[in-house]
Amino acid sequence: MFRKIALSAVAALAVTSGAALAAGKAGHVEDIDFAHEGPFGRFDQMQLQRGLQVYTEVCAACHGLKFVPIRTLADENGPQLPADQVRAYAAGLLEVDLPNGETRPREWTDHFPMSGMENAPDLSLMAKARAGFSGPYGLGINQFFRGMGGPEYIYSILTGYTGEEKEEAGTLFYGNEAFPGGWIAMGPPLMEDLVTYADGTPATVENMAEDVASFLMWTAEPKLMDRREAGFTAVIFLAVLSTLLYLTNKKLWSGVKGRKVA
Ligand code: HEC
Repeated sequence: MFRKIALSAVAALAVTSGAALAAGKAGHVEDIDFAHEGPFGRFDQMQLQRGLQVYTEVCAACHGLKFVPIRTLADENGPQLPADQVRAYAAGLLEVDLPNGETRPREWTDHFPMSGMENAPDLSLMAKARAGFSGPYGLGINQFFRGMGGPEYIYSILTGYTGEEKEEAGTLFYGNEAFPGGWIAMGPPLMEDLVTYADGTPATVENMAEDVASFLMWTAEPKLMDRREAGFTAVIFLAVLSTLLYLTNKKLWSGVKGRKVA
């Protein structure tokens, strides 16, 4: 009997691992201590600004951020650019297509443009759409402290190129340790000193990848800090309320509970 159960368990395992293999191997994702992680984490404003720069100068050539309103660049807990810089930034972006076939300059009240390259996905929500670890199936507590690994996944893709290339059906694929399946159709976008940071941070591939990953986490979850603050307020409020109710309860019953029944 026991052997039968054990055998079927082994068979079941073999089947599931076979299915996992068929789905392509999951990539390796590096865990990074981002400033925004953990219960007290906050976005690092300077890092968001550097990330915006990397996105604008490198990624925007192919990827859009169509769900992100440009005006949010001035938001508290965001990159917090001054209003005049936000306007100037918007004016420098791709013009907006009008229904009558004409174009007009992009305003700060518009959204970022959409992807200019057909097969390059929009990055607005990418940091939340991908889970490097502690994904939706894990325990909530792991997500709470370490996040889902979305920005880590983006970082790992950007730094995970193996240097190998192969051509398949007319498309060039690049070896990448983080991308599921190991081959990605995006060439390595970053190389040392590709951008020049105003704050003097060395523009290594790792720094640029971390900055842009952090920025993309902000585009995907711009209200992260606000939600956390509301959560803390609620917890403190409930703690005080519970204490008061407990004391009220004690007081109400003190006449009855304190008495000895003979
Ligand atoms: C030359 C165009 C180009 C540039 C520049 C570029 N990408 Fe991509 N990117 C692509 C294409 C094409 C894909 C789709 C690859 C695939 O599906 O194999 C992609 C895919 C991705 C993915 C998706 C991976 C997934 O899980 O689907 C991420 C994340 C990404 N790029 C981030 C970036 C970041 C960040 C930058 C800037 C540092 C950047 N890309 C610059 C073309 C580009």
